[in-house]
Amino acid sequence: MAKKLQIDSVLRPEVLVIGAGGAGLRCAAEICERRPGTSVVAVTKVHSPQKSHTSTAQGGMAAVAPNDPVDKIIYHMFDTWKGSDCSSDQNIIKKVCESAWEQVLWLERHGMHFSRTEEGRIAKRPFGGHMLNFGEVKAFRACYEADRTGKGIMDTVWAESLKHGVSFLNQSVATELLFRNGRCIGAVVFMEQNGKFVAVLAKATIMATGGKTRMYQVSSNCRQNTGDGLALILQAGLPVMDLEAVQFHPTGIVGPGILASEALRGEGAILRNKDGEPFMERYAPTAKDLAPRDLVSRCVMTEIREGRGCIHPDHKLPHVWLDLRHIPEHVHKTRIQEVCGFFCKFAGVQPQFELCPVTPTAHYQMGGAPTNEFGEVQKDARQIVPGLYACGEFAAVSLHGHNRLGTNSLLELITMGKVVGEKVAAYLHDAQDPGDVPQDGGQHVFGQFSRYLESQGKERYAEIRDALRVFMTEKVGVFRNEKGLAEAIEELKELKERTARMRLSSKSLVMNQEPLQFWELNHLLDVSMVIAYCALARKESRGAHYREDYPERSPEFQYHTLAYMTDYGKVTLGRRTVDMSIFEARGEHYEKFDVIERKY
Ligand code: FUM
Repeated sequence: MAKKLQIDSVLRPEVLVIGAGGAGLRCAAEICERRPGTSVVAVTKVHSPQKSHTSTAQGGMAAVAPNDPVDKIIYHMFDTWKGSDCSSDQNIIKKVCESAWEQVLWLERHGMHFSRTEEGRIAKRPFGGHMLNFGEVKAFRACYEADRTGKGIMDTVWAESLKHGVSFLNQSVATELLFRNGRCIGAVVFMEQNGKFVAVLAKATIMATGGKTRMYQVSSNCRQNTGDGLALILQAGLPVMDLEAVQFHPTGIVGPGILASEALRGEGAILRNKDGEPFMERYAPTAKDLAPRDLVSRCVMTEIREGRGCIHPDHKLPHVWLDLRHIPEHVHKTRIQEVCGFFCKFAGVQPQFELCPVTPTAHYQMGGAPTNEFGEVQKDARQIVPGLYACGEFAAVSLHGHNRLGTNSLLELITMGKVVGEKVAAYLHDAQDPGDVPQDGGQHVFGQFSRYLESQGKERYAEIRDALRVFMTEKVGVFRNEKGLAEAIEELKELKERTARMRLSSKSLVMNQEPLQFWELNHLLDVSMVIAYCALARKESRGAHYREDYPERSPEFQYHTLAYMTDYGKVTLGRRTVDMSIFEARGEHYEKFDVIERKY
């Protein structure tokens, strides 16, 4: 008989931040700047916040200075709208793009080392879908720190958090949200290092657990990105939004799936098929290799499907080539050295002299926990959950609709992290004390962990996880259709049953990865079920959601998908209106923000 699980201790900060990556810590820094002395506890799944997925971001952060002589904020807004396939929210586009430069300066003044031009200005590089003059020619808009921009951001926000005295619970996971009378009052957190549960009771809880694409065979996400935060939201009876919109980045390094940044194409790299043809010219005559990534990923997959790809001799994975051989040596050595190093290390090729094997890699979730423009988590399209906030990739605010442009993600986590911090700081002024742990606090997670501890079956975790990755890639990947999605849903049901028969080899909860892996696998299944269900329901193609049986965008689906799932496999759908306030305001260039044709 397993030992009785219980809440072992209680912490009472004013603010709980779940997920200590770029968004969570930018938010924490803002709260502390506005309200010095605020007590903040930040929970991170990893050994140190520096290991957060944000640290792996390479290419840059889009931002247009208000006085830029060439680029304009309105072009950035237009590109974001067009890139999203007309399903992002225009009030958010405006808010984020208009505050982008201010946030670049915030980072710079708090210590980030942006790369510089010879004149000493912050350097900028082109990225997919970012163009001047409403789509005419590529824009230099991504501010970067070589090819490790995310690391620069993490260094900065982590330092700020430490400076303000934020406390960290490392190697810990939030396992259950706590509520009283509909208000979120914190979470139950499991600490891997001592195997104990702590209830963190807070006036405000901010969720910023990032993305979740580890259910795919090839993924650029860190191993911790298993959808835990979204699973908590679903368990609480709250909705998730636009989960069908999964972004596949066209250039993952064959083998580990690690990102080969779009910055490479920004610096001039060219995609080629097995015959050496620069095939993007056929699909996107204007933007070519710098078309948005949903489009480029489909083109790569089409080349492969039509027999113009290669098979990697070691990994047996199909791929195309990325050609960097013509890029000047000084660029290799100064602006893209880290990612070129990845090619050497993981693919055994020297990018300066050899072609590099790449394949689409599951990279980003455009959807997430729906929030309003202040990052307040929504219960439905009209009501919020008091005390619960979200930002970064975890949240669907929605800046990206059904397809995100590269470099708009670092931008979102910094700008919205700030916005949410501002909102929380104001909320704290007269927010009530959260009170004590609710009577049933922890019961859900104790039930889950007890089942893992008591299970006697013979199913193997790794086999279930691998089966999940195979069919999610085949049936819920870059291309989708009704038959494949319906099959995926059935397979997901079977896999969930099998998880009940997984057995722990050690029953200890102290520094034991196994129970956490079981817990994560269940989350991957929960989230995959919602992705597949939403993808089946959206009978159109929009952004990264591509249905072979419905290849066009349809006005019938001009809305955000809301999905609820408290019982596994029973998904209820709702809708949220796409905000078109720029178009409706009828200001200058308003016609560009109509539901426009999307050609590159
Ligand atoms: O390609 C990249 O460097 C990725 C950037 C992003 O996802 O924004």
